[in-house]
Amino acid sequence: MCGIIGVVGADDALELLLGGLERLEYRGYDSAGIAIQCADGALWRCRAADGTRSVAALQERCGVAPEGATTGIGHTRWATHGAPVEGNAHPQVDCAGAIAVIHNGIIENHVALAARLRAAGHTFTSGTDTEVLAHLIEEHRDRGLDLADSVTAALREVTGAFSIGVLDASTPGQIVAARRVSPLIVGRADGETYLASDIPAILERTRDLVAVEDDQVAILTAEGLVLRDLDGALVEPTVLSVDWDVETAVLGGHPDFMTKEIYEQPEAIRATLAARRSEDGRVVLDELHLTDDELASVDRVVLVGCGSSYHAALLGKHAIERWSRLRCEVDIASEFRYRGPVLDERTLVVGVSQSGETIDTLQALREARRLGAKVVAVCNVVDASMAREADAVLYTRAGPEISVASTKTVPAQVVALELLALRLAQVRSTMDDAAVAEAFAALAMLPELVAKALKGAEHVRDIAASLHGSRDYFFIGRHVGYPVALEGALKLKELSYLHAEGYPGGELKHGPIALIEPGTVVVAIVMGDELREKLLSNVAEVTSRGASVIIVHSEDDEEAASFGDWSISIPAASEFASPVLSIVPLQLLAYHLAKLRGLNVDRPRNLAKTVTVE
Ligand code: AGP
Repeated sequence: MCGIIGVVGADDALELLLGGLERLEYRGYDSAGIAIQCADGALWRCRAADGTRSVAALQERCGVAPEGATTGIGHTRWATHGAPVEGNAHPQVDCAGAIAVIHNGIIENHVALAARLRAAGHTFTSGTDTEVLAHLIEEHRDRGLDLADSVTAALREVTGAFSIGVLDASTPGQIVAARRVSPLIVGRADGETYLASDIPAILERTRDLVAVEDDQVAILTAEGLVLRDLDGALVEPTVLSVDWDVETAVLGGHPDFMTKEIYEQPEAIRATLAARRSEDGRVVLDELHLTDDELASVDRVVLVGCGSSYHAALLGKHAIERWSRLRCEVDIASEFRYRGPVLDERTLVVGVSQSGETIDTLQALREARRLGAKVVAVCNVVDASMAREADAVLYTRAGPEISVASTKTVPAQVVALELLALRLAQVRSTMDDAAVAEAFAALAMLPELVAKALKGAEHVRDIAASLHGSRDYFFIGRHVGYPVALEGALKLKELSYLHAEGYPGGELKHGPIALIEPGTVVVAIVMGDELREKLLSNVAEVTSRGASVIIVHSEDDEEAASFGDWSISIPAASEFASPVLSIVPLQLLAYHLAKLRGLNVDRPRNLAKTVTVE
């Protein structure tokens, strides 16, 4: 997820761009850049890559604008393709440096397009997917099309997601923007026109805003905005009415980052899946950098992680064993290296970590490498320590996760591990192409199913209100429901400070059921698998001892709902998708109970977003 901004007709264009990038930093910050159109039309570009302070570094480096600069574009990056270095910072330019492009999204067919453009003589200078756009537009400009038609023609060749802004040295006083999937807002004021990824970046300048819709091209000049579709036909703008203050706008209208990130889960999954399947059906994990032979030589997989990442690993284990038929163990990272793990060069050790900096997981991977295993990092931050030290990396693309409690990165991690499982299955021929295609199609449905689960969980706030005052919670599940129970309990503990335990449903009778009494709350995650009846028996056991029960169940299993005092339905889905869907209402339950207790959901006590102490 990146942030883009642009302006036409403003005497303070540079200040507006730099200030807007500050508001967009939460969308990504590993590098930043601007391009300004000088009075003579030439483009002046300035970029910086300085970890979490790239925008500040840009402000220090590019503080004085060229004479007469009133038009420009800016970008703050969350790297997905290409390391977070200055050369990969946006704007990216064409061969002549006369066309500058800023981009949020993923150009899925960038490899094929770049190959064609190189063969036609174009020279590339970055490792980004975005640079392809600059050269495509250049190609059409060279054919004599104007900027808007060149951008339109280029976008008709592109698959993937984008919101872009384009400057052209030979088209003064104009920015051409466009959008597909990734958000794009355009604003108008007297003699000035703006573009941004979202409202906060330009809200201080105008409330006269429109949303650019999918496959629309926006032509911005100081006089105004013209909106066209990819066929060149004029379209009516979608007017936005905004009564937010700027602070609320940074949160996209949500009350806090946790809510925002819970509702970003569909996009986090969609981005993690993007460009990961080739035209001929192969799973494409291009940053994995392990050859088919290296993957085929693997005879065992060990997953290590902490907290929510450990829970995601438990779900990934199921897919790896089921699809690749490889033995797969899962360790809590802080325990892993003390058990004297038996590893060798045929063991694949995968560290799962949102931050890529958790020292327990980092140390586990270092030990795995010392013992000769192949090491892969699954993380959400490009070039994090784990990514740099591992033999290979598989990035989730959930965008920055600001709230301390992990939400959107958990389904992204599960999906990344399922993609790894499919890749292993392909090189080991344990799944044929049809089976891989079927599994991939089911994964592609997940964003829509998560959005439906979010919609179906709107009454969780009322359940939380009914439970306000309860002090003891058990979350129970069986098989793939058990990691869900663990994650639900962790969310409740870290957000509401209430005691909660996640347990395999079959374990209660081995002791913990002694704790069940009137007032105890039990949350049962009922999957539609062969363990359904056994889990419902566990529910009956706790109900008979006075527990209050919440049933999380598939929408096609209304009978299960009757076993509880409250029920939450999730969309019917496979055993590989249902766990991710089941986590959604548990995130919201923890959130609402914490809010009812007046707690800070983004910054819970005693916690840190990244734990860098052992
Ligand atoms: C989860 O909500 C917590 N924030 C915590 O358990 C977290 O998952 C754990 O510290 C691991 O962090 P990582 O994914 O960055 O390695």
